[in-house]
Amino acid sequence: METWNKLYSSTIESFLLRKRKLQQVIMGFNVNIDKVIRIRPDTLQGFKSKNLDEILLQKEVPMDIKSIESFVLCLLRAIEGGKADEKLIVTEDVCDWIENTFVVDEIKIGGQAGIMANLLTKLELADVLLSLPVYDDSFVDLLHDKINIPFESNGICSVQSITKLQGFEKKRFIHYVFEFDKGTYYLTTSNSIECPRQNRFIASHDTVNSLLEIKSCFKKYSLENIQKYSIAIVSGFHLLNPEIQDNTTYYDIIAPIISMFKEWKKINPDLKIHLEFAATRDRKLIKAIFQRLLPLVNSIGLNEQELLSVLETTNVTTYKKLRNEMSSVNLFEGILNIWVKYPHLRIHLHYLGYYLTISSRLHEKQAIKRKQALILSAVFASVKARNGSICSIVEINNVLCSVSKSGYDEIEGLFSFLRSEYKSIDEIEDGIVSTDSFTVIGIPTIIIKSAKQLVGVGDTISVLALLLEN
Ligand code: GLC
Repeated sequence: METWNKLYSSTIESFLLRKRKLQQVIMGFNVNIDKVIRIRPDTLQGFKSKNLDEILLQKEVPMDIKSIESFVLCLLRAIEGGKADEKLIVTEDVCDWIENTFVVDEIKIGGQAGIMANLLTKLELADVLLSLPVYDDSFVDLLHDKINIPFESNGICSVQSITKLQGFEKKRFIHYVFEFDKGTYYLTTSNSIECPRQNRFIASHDTVNSLLEIKSCFKKYSLENIQKYSIAIVSGFHLLNPEIQDNTTYYDIIAPIISMFKEWKKINPDLKIHLEFAATRDRKLIKAIFQRLLPLVNSIGLNEQELLSVLETTNVTTYKKLRNEMSSVNLFEGILNIWVKYPHLRIHLHYLGYYLTISSRLHEKQAIKRKQALILSAVFASVKARNGSICSIVEINNVLCSVSKSGYDEIEGLFSFLRSEYKSIDEIEDGIVSTDSFTVIGIPTIIIKSAKQLVGVGDTISVLALLLEN
């Protein structure tokens, strides 16, 4: 473990000393407003009027939220499982009830595209072109003013700062983010539930991102300028909801995006497209993403819950194994399963205490660069978890470089499994092995015991690991 701690310190040191290049990055498609609500041990007692015992008896967690009861059930189950989850709220009444029942602690930019665009711009690591699905005046205070937003005025399409945009549209796209800690939550004075792990549950009411709206000006501008971009980071597919428009399917919503990706790649074959997953258990949607989008992108990022839901649809045996035991070997087998179907992909899995990547076999230099990028992403993620946000690069100077013991043991366990499972294996250095066909990189990470906020930490990990290896 000491070797890893030293490696973390030296990686930070050399990163701060090196000259960093500003990369040209495209980002889309989900940007929304997050209302963060911190659940405290007695918050749930406010639900007195609801029959909590009866609600808790229900076995199945609903796919989406159609009533206050179904919202309460989803929230309580997420707390009981300590799981990161997200559900769509179908009826506005539930939003009104949430607004009247809870105290909102903070309003932030939400949606992976919005969060990652702000982060890369603030850290001066990228010049970002952002697809903004709707021009709402509340974004002015939440989005960084140096982000480039394609905007059409009088038939002319140009890029603008959020501060210069006009023609605001009013639509509802609020996401309620319920953050909870490990511990006891009281439902009544005598009845309680236990939360095993700090996490967050998101309930979203969003008619904008649910149709993955992309302005025609963004399409035009990105295509005309695609040569100058090296990376496109896309997300928001988990929010798709064909039910809000007549005669629409997932494939109908995805089709224009597929054409846009193909056009981008035709002009700029070197463009790397990364797709960031988010929670959804809708099998039809997962199938559409898996079959239509994965062949077109170069890289994907996901956490263990997102991996589970992909496997539930694509490989039930691996899914059951992983659901029974969340070990590094089972997680590796999960991502291997996706990789075998799409060997052109770089797959990055982030889990509490360690990260894994798999891709086709890398040269030694590339593999070492990827490992360093993973380490740096873990460092930034620890700053984000501890402080709730990252204000500047120098903050990583104050990170306590002490990797998780359980993460370290899991990585050790995985690498001895790989040694025994694969005959010809090249061990490049700690945390990197290659077989004839693929390279696996695994690093233990830093765990922040009592994080200030968890929403957006996964996005921070994925985007920085990707950007910094380039
Ligand atoms: C999902 C949610 C969004 C949240 C983001 C954080 O995209 O819809 O509200 O900000 O995840 O990763």
